[in-house]
Amino acid sequence: MTETVNTQTPAIGYFTEENSVATVNARMGKDVEPRLATVMASLVKHLHHFVREVELTQAEWEYAVDFLTKTGQICSGERQEFILLSDTLGVSMLVDAINNRRPEGATENTVFGPFHVEGAPVREMGDKICLDGKGESCLFVGRVIDIDGRPIEGARIDVWSDNAEGYYDVQQPDIQPKWNNRGVFVTGADGHYSFVGIRPVSYPIPDDGPVGKMLASLGRHPYRPAHMHYMIRADGFQKLVTHTFVGGDTYLTSDAVFGVKKTLVAPFARVDGGDTLWRSDFDFVLVP
Ligand code: BEZ
Ligand code: FE
Repeated sequence: MTETVNTQTPAIGYFTEENSVATVNARMGKDVEPRLATVMASLVKHLHHFVREVELTQAEWEYAVDFLTKTGQICSGERQEFILLSDTLGVSMLVDAINNRRPEGATENTVFGPFHVEGAPVREMGDKICLDGKGESCLFVGRVIDIDGRPIEGARIDVWSDNAEGYYDVQQPDIQPKWNNRGVFVTGADGHYSFVGIRPVSYPIPDDGPVGKMLASLGRHPYRPAHMHYMIRADGFQKLVTHTFVGGDTYLTSDAVFGVKKTLVAPFARVDGGDTLWRSDFDFVLVP
């Protein structure tokens, strides 16, 4: 029988460079929960393959351990550096894509991000969400509909965006009014929504920690293209977590967290003589 590197069952259990994957995975107990066993065995296999492929040096391994330690140390109730790491490596978007495959025509999901706050005020349709008086006003308008174009009544549309200086209210609790650029809107029988916010601006993700240092050393910028966040929930439909992006933004094709999808780039039209400077029309299509 020919032996294939790393797949032979280790007879004794001593670890060698050649049998590393099989030796580690053979330690797993017999009664491990099946999904956990599958995920961990695959993780070990790919990790070992990676270490072998790049022939990781001792110094590089120590650097990686130090990097992960610092990533953990900077985390707090308000700061989640590990999610930022996942976002900037494209893992968050890949998990999101795998878990939100939708039929053609349905609005696509994108990354949730760290700045959503549960409990934003429920506002009347047409209300203003921008409370700091900064930025260029924009009317956001459209419908929440099903895949056959029928309006969805009672959809809760939770929206949030940065202010004109590129910060969310929670990043500047002493500067911005509470709930600035946030609100919840509930659709009526016609499925229509409308609210007044600002034309969002592009902003850097928090880059003063290990992830920012990683981006800089990889020659990557930390910017996200301008966007409005939406989370839409309606009984009998899949939850939609998405953004609309401002067409023409400089960072549309280099989003630091890979969140842009072509179908989510929305029109932002200049309005002459209206109540707002801009208007953005977008319909959200939910799937059962
Ligand atoms: C955001 O769009 O709010 C965001 C998403 C991922 C990482 C950082 C910020
Ligand atoms: Fe954002």
